[in-house]
Amino acid sequence: MPAVVVLGAQWGDEGKGKATDQLGSRVDYVVKFNGGNNAGHTVVVGDEKYALHLLPSGILSPGCVPVIGNGVVVDLEVLFEELEALTSRGVDVSRLLISSSAHVIPSYNRTLDKVTERFLGKRQIGTTGRGIGPTYADKMNRVGIRISDLFDEKILREKVEGALTQKNQVLVKIYNRRAADIDAVTAELLAYAERVRPMVADTSLVLNQALDAGKTLVFEAGQATMLDVDHGTYPFVTSSSATAGGVCTGAGIGPTRVDRVVGVIKAYTTRVGEGPFPTELLDDMGEHLRKTGGEYGVTTGRPRRTGWYDAVIARYSGRVNGLTDLVLTKLDVLTGMEKVPVCVAYDVDGVRHDEMPVDQSAFHHAKPIYEELDGWWEDISHCRTFEELPVNAQRYVLALEEVSGTRISAIGVGPDREATIVRHDLLD
Ligand code: GDP
Ligand code: IMO
Ligand code: MG
Repeated sequence: MPAVVVLGAQWGDEGKGKATDQLGSRVDYVVKFNGGNNAGHTVVVGDEKYALHLLPSGILSPGCVPVIGNGVVVDLEVLFEELEALTSRGVDVSRLLISSSAHVIPSYNRTLDKVTERFLGKRQIGTTGRGIGPTYADKMNRVGIRISDLFDEKILREKVEGALTQKNQVLVKIYNRRAADIDAVTAELLAYAERVRPMVADTSLVLNQALDAGKTLVFEAGQATMLDVDHGTYPFVTSSSATAGGVCTGAGIGPTRVDRVVGVIKAYTTRVGEGPFPTELLDDMGEHLRKTGGEYGVTTGRPRRTGWYDAVIARYSGRVNGLTDLVLTKLDVLTGMEKVPVCVAYDVDGVRHDEMPVDQSAFHHAKPIYEELDGWWEDISHCRTFEELPVNAQRYVLALEEVSGTRISAIGVGPDREATIVRHDLLD
């Protein structure tokens, strides 16, 4: 049975939550391996709509074990808020496992995230303000606080003190903020210890044993390839590894255990926050895509920037992730257009680039080279087979498959669980 990675092939919000949820009933474990509550996944089940941030989408499938891996950063307050909100809606959350090595987001890192953004001024990243960047920085700086630290008050206090020795200098002297109080922060974190204890596990061991036992595992990425700290549009990225490589470090499994890598990709492109975006539409068409696609952030409510499908990004994502399949989402949003442009290459200062320019400045200057495809007018939200799609929609999908370099195994035609056309089974 397979271990399947589901990740974002663009700048996030491709519909990963829906894609993961859809596999849910046939999956034994859904594992989040990167990011934190900067993610926002909308899953629609019948008349119910769920917005998940920190929790893996597998939490909505009875019988599936949701796992928060060591590569995730955990805001404990958000964790319990989300768990309580789901419980009150009748969702059984008792199966959740959390890695003892996952880092926690202390309140001072939320403060630092917001003040550093403010100080960056025009160079700001447009972060979600959830303390993600500072917490990953602490991890690399070896002053982070892990879930396992919550269970020994003395050690926890020492670690908080260690972190604040540096950070209070920065908060007070650079940002003119109040110093964080060591006792108060320790008490704040300690207050969650007993509640979180039953969920804590050696998740790497659990997952490897599950793989040995032939279980089906889905590794669900937060964020996306173009927001990956190594492979994305640095510095306009998040601070974790959202690409396939992140699965191994963020969940504690070896690369030989992964069978499939599925890239979720929208039939157009969106981005939240700052940074380059070659196919961005700043006109009425951009507004049309935003309105029709409901492109407003699940986490911060910000309007998403919108643009046409970018095959250069799709090919790049195929390369850095080793994609085996694409799930194309939101094809229905493109219904009703005379022509649908697709970016097949870039023009950078008069030179054609078929591949992602390695130089970041070149990417900032990239002008899309478009091919125009014929649109379709028929409502496609009821289509459940490829053949039911209008012929121009079929041609659009086949053209994207051709220019993207990875087969399109499923096509989203609406937000509902059922509104998907499956061409190849992702778990086969
Ligand atoms: P994620 O962060 O990748 O999980 O994606 P988000 O949940 O942030 O954003 C995707 C949005 O698109 C959600 O509101 C989904 O309900 C919706 N969605 C997913 N697939 C489709 C689709 O095929 N068609 C339409 N119209 N909406 C979709
Ligand atoms: P999902 O999982 C879209 C963006 C932020 C900002 C940058 C850094 O729903 O696809 P951060 O708070 O992570 O330090 O912000 O990354 N960003 C996302 N954009 N979808 C997401 O998650 C995102 N998570 C972070 O807008 O530009
Ligand atoms: Mg999202």
